[in-house]
Amino acid sequence: MHGMELLLQMMVVALTLAVVSQPVRTFPQEQEVRSEDPVTSNSACRCNGHSTCANGTSICNQPCGNFTRGPHCEQCVSGYYGNPVNGGKCIPCECNDQAAECHPDTGKCFCTTKGIVGDHCERCDPYNHYFGDPTNKGSCFYELTIDYQFMFNISGKNNHHYTQINFRNSPSNPAVDAEFRIACSVPSKLNITVKTADDVERPILTNHNCTFNQHSYWFSKAEYKFGALGNVTLTTFYVYVYDFRTPLWIKSSFSQPKWWKLL
Ligand SMILES: *[C@@H]1O[C@H](CO)[C@@H](O)[C@H](O)[C@H]1NC(C)=O
Ligand SMILES: *[C@@H]1O[C@H](CO)[C@@H](O)[C@H](O)[C@H]1NC(C)=O
Ligand SMILES: *[C@@H]1O[C@H](CO)[C@@H](O)[C@H](O)[C@H]1NC(C)=O
Ligand SMILES: *[C@@H]1O[C@H](CO)[C@@H](O)[C@H](O)[C@H]1NC(C)=O
Ligand SMILES: *[C@@H]1O[C@H](CO)[C@@H](O)[C@H](O)[C@H]1NC(C)=O
Ligand SMILES: *[C@@H]1O[C@H](CO)[C@@H](O)[C@H](O)[C@H]1NC(C)=O
Repeated sequence: MHGMELLLQMMVVALTLAVVSQPVRTFPQEQEVRSEDPVTSNSACRCNGHSTCANGTSICNQPCGNFTRGPHCEQCVSGYYGNPVNGGKCIPCECNDQAAECHPDTGKCFCTTKGIVGDHCERCDPYNHYFGDPTNKGSCFYELTIDYQFMFNISGKNNHHYTQINFRNSPSNPAVDAEFRIACSVPSKLNITVKTADDVERPILTNHNCTFNQHSYWFSKAEYKFGALGNVTLTTFYVYVYDFRTPLWIKSSFSQPKWWKLL
């Protein structure tokens, strides 16, 4: 078993990928509270039309209404955006169920799954190797190249909204078993599903713990049909790593070393 481990280490070419997310524009988080407030200019009470003041004081009754917050109800609550000052409205974020929050001014969604991009989390980022369709409860998947180990470093300023990343692979060799390996630097959850050419996506394992220690999962060629028939891919594995908090790194690989069939 040890010799096999060692041999595998040698066969799997280590490749380190620092996956960078696309730049996100940043804006000042605080909004100016205007000193002149036409809505309530005849009193010291300035709640931008979203609350009233207690008993003739200048303190806005909390919580503010109309999905606003702040001492003067001058900001939108999480999940809403717009300019609520002077009676303005807060509008719900529209993120295709792929984000809980958006930029308070622009409404640009903070997608929670790496590889999902677009103002409304409506598409995958093919330039960084993510494919799929995040609309209608779908998602985006990093296409893992077989026999390479990938390292995903999800840290830094533009990555802190991420709680999930997905991978996929379609083992190409029908004559060899496949192995998936994964390690997560912080505790994360792991689901693996399989989709075959003539079936829907089915769970293989759900809610497994992904930890610092490497986990290995075997998929035998007897149980799964690998490769393709004509132009139809027979078996694709989907891996969902979720419920994590950044910063973290994840190492993952699918492999089908050809020498396995000699054992
Ligand atoms: C905003 O909130 C105020 C006070 O709670 C309420 O009177 C008003 O109808 C609300 N406006 C809208 C557009 O919901
Ligand atoms: C409003 O002010 C009156 C008199 O100043 C006081 O008796 C009352 O308790 C106050 N009510 C509230 C809700 O603060
Ligand atoms: C991940 O990237 C951050 C900078 O974004 C760096 O400080 C850190 O050392 C990297 N971690 C690994 C394991 O490469
Ligand atoms: C993981 O599997 C569980 C159980 O089927 C499901 O409730 C959950 O939504 C899945 N999570 C992801 C991210 O796929
Ligand atoms: C997974 O981790 C959680 C805590 O992070 C722990 O309570 C649970 O027992 C673990 N499950 C397994 C199967 O190890
Ligand atoms: C796959 O092959 C069939 C017939 O062999 C063809 O009709 C179809 O367009 C092909 N699909 C793709 C995606 O190439």
